[in-house]
Amino acid sequence: MIRISDRVGKLPDYPLAKIPGIKRRLIAAGMDVIDLGAGDADGPPPAEVTEVLRQALGTTALHKYGFQAGLPAFREAAVRWIERRFGQRFDAYTEMLPLIGSKEGLSHLVMAVCNPGDLVVVPEPGYQAYIGGTILGNAEPVIVPLRPEHNFLVELDLLPEETLRRTRLVYVNYPNNPTAAIAPRDYLERLVAACRKYHIVLAYDNAYCDITFDGYVAPSIFEIAGARDVALEFYSLSKSFQMTGWRVGFVAGRSELISALNHVKSYVDTGPFLALQHTGAWALDHAEELVKPIVTELALRRDAVIAALRAEGFTVESPQAAMYAWVPLPEWLPSAEFTTYALEQEGVVVLPGSGFGPGGEGFFRIALTQPAPRLREAVTRLGRSLAACRERRGVTTA
Ligand SMILES: Cc1ncc(COP(=O)(O)O)c(C=O)c1O
Repeated sequence: MIRISDRVGKLPDYPLAKIPGIKRRLIAAGMDVIDLGAGDADGPPPAEVTEVLRQALGTTALHKYGFQAGLPAFREAAVRWIERRFGQRFDAYTEMLPLIGSKEGLSHLVMAVCNPGDLVVVPEPGYQAYIGGTILGNAEPVIVPLRPEHNFLVELDLLPEETLRRTRLVYVNYPNNPTAAIAPRDYLERLVAACRKYHIVLAYDNAYCDITFDGYVAPSIFEIAGARDVALEFYSLSKSFQMTGWRVGFVAGRSELISALNHVKSYVDTGPFLALQHTGAWALDHAEELVKPIVTELALRRDAVIAALRAEGFTVESPQAAMYAWVPLPEWLPSAEFTTYALEQEGVVVLPGSGFGPGGEGFFRIALTQPAPRLREAVTRLGRSLAACRERRGVTTA
């Protein structure tokens, strides 16, 4: 009899797993489906970037194994970018590591820093690599709900002392997916202080650091004094350059932690494709001009979605960062009921908060992955869905 591991049995369902099948069925039935589910850009990477890759494909050396050392040019461009962007210097060879997208490094990190049974603080709702990496790494998740009353921040000081003593790793992500929350500096100082006090590794997921609006500039955790003792910061080229499918990211921080992650990865992968590292280096060196139009377009979409949501009767704040609207629902309406109705009856894919775990209940997520007119159309349909759910349940209040 074939058996599947207990670890796999413990993995929660992936929130996006069932959507492609349902979408195919609806499209086959003639429905006009608007997909605002995954945080996956609708447009291509900048044309110059694609051209650099096209040329790189003609270089034989770039088709070889990269191993963990990867391409020196990528390592050097990555630390140059960190220095330009955040004013922090890292050694390109001992304090940074190329990743096959940041998801891969985030999830493998548990194997590098935790023993079986160690505790890992996992925000909920949160990016699935955190809980997945924790379970697959045989550690124990400590789920911390991200709630509006705490500005969607992971407050370690609210956890019991005994829990903090057994915690080896905490995942934190600001600008945040899915809540779009940002982290104030005094919060980051509290976080670093707690991690230092309890010897907790701080995995700071900065995948959305470039996607910010209204003049807000997202910080690096390394701008906080003392962070270098405990933190690793994860960066992604997926959102900044619309290179989601390319799988290029990197991590920077303390050399012992980088070296441990490097060691794990040397047994499970052989690094990102060198032609992509070559191209990623070029993109990082041109980040300022490449990222700007992408953020300008996302800001337009954000404004369109927020205005449309308010017009449809949703109460929602305008996010200062990331590419999502995290929209509260009325108390009487479970998020999965709403999003299932919106998908099946109105052809709009949005994610229920509960799909990110019970801590996400009461909200749904819209990804800004369609042009403004399509987003407005989607929100009109969401407004109809809300009215229909209200009628079905016979609710007379707002
Ligand atoms: C919070 C967060 N971290 C990391 C990632 C993964 O990015 P990458 O494509 O670099 O693996 C995502 C992707 O959606 C994300 O939302």
